Amino acid sequence: MNDLRRIFDEEIDLESTKWEHYFDIYDRHFRRFVGAQPRLLEIGVFAGGSLQMWQRYFGEGATIVGMDTNPYSANARDEGFEIFIGEQGNKDHLQQIIDRHGAFDIIIDDGSHSTDDLKASFEKLFPHMSEGGVYLVEDTHTNYWEHFGGGYKKPGTFTESMKHAIDQLNAFHSKDPDTFRPNYLTYAVNGLHFYDSVIVIEKGTRDQAPKEVRVNAPDRRRAR
Ligand SMILES: C[S@@+](CC[C@H](N)C(=O)[O-])C[C@H]1O[C@@H](n2cnc3c(N)ncnc32)[C@H](O)[C@@H]1O
Repeated sequence: MNDLRRIFDEEIDLESTKWEHYFDIYDRHFRRFVGAQPRLLEIGVFAGGSLQMWQRYFGEGATIVGMDTNPYSANARDEGFEIFIGEQGNKDHLQQIIDRHGAFDIIIDDGSHSTDDLKASFEKLFPHMSEGGVYLVEDTHTNYWEHFGGGYKKPGTFTESMKHAIDQLNAFHSKDPDTFRPNYLTYAVNGLHFYDSVIVIEKGTRDQAPKEVRVNAPDRRRAR
């Protein structure tokens, strides 16, 4: 059992619900921040159980901030968390969080799950993340559900936009700049990870195609 699952099962005392495979995904992408005093924003607080889990996992010095539309979530302030009551689709509300906290290392979107909100939050927040930051979107299966603005291969959903981001990750290698050329994502994303119901986007500044490196094996062999 990884640490997060143990903390979730044994230590937190505020309500939270998670899909069980999420714990391994979190640990895979967040472990390097443990003890490193990361700055974390979670959109979608509900009772605050998840925030408690992050606090215990990342340890002393971590900054844990939550955002939710529901005033009930403000009760988590009693646990020492910064809770911002606002709409994740409202760029002014997101700007207020950025103004107050600066660059986040980790952002978790577990809010409305509406595809328009997912896109609005990502577009506003991702450019303000720290270098090496990790943006994780939960419950992306809702992108296939009409009720959340989704549908199978429906143009414009967050999941569809991230499928296009795979192309952008490779755009420095394009031989056809008229139809396929680098955009913001090519310059700002250095890794994309897709799981059942979770998408992880890694921030990393790039300004050109990566360079190939080569070992000159015949020369090395002759020199022996
Ligand atoms: C699934 S719950 C979050 C659970 C929490 N992350 C956890 O794991 O314990 C989703 C939360 O998103 C909030 N929410 C819904 N629409 C929102 C919006 N537009 N902006 C911000 N939060 C929203 C809801 O009020 C609810 O508390």
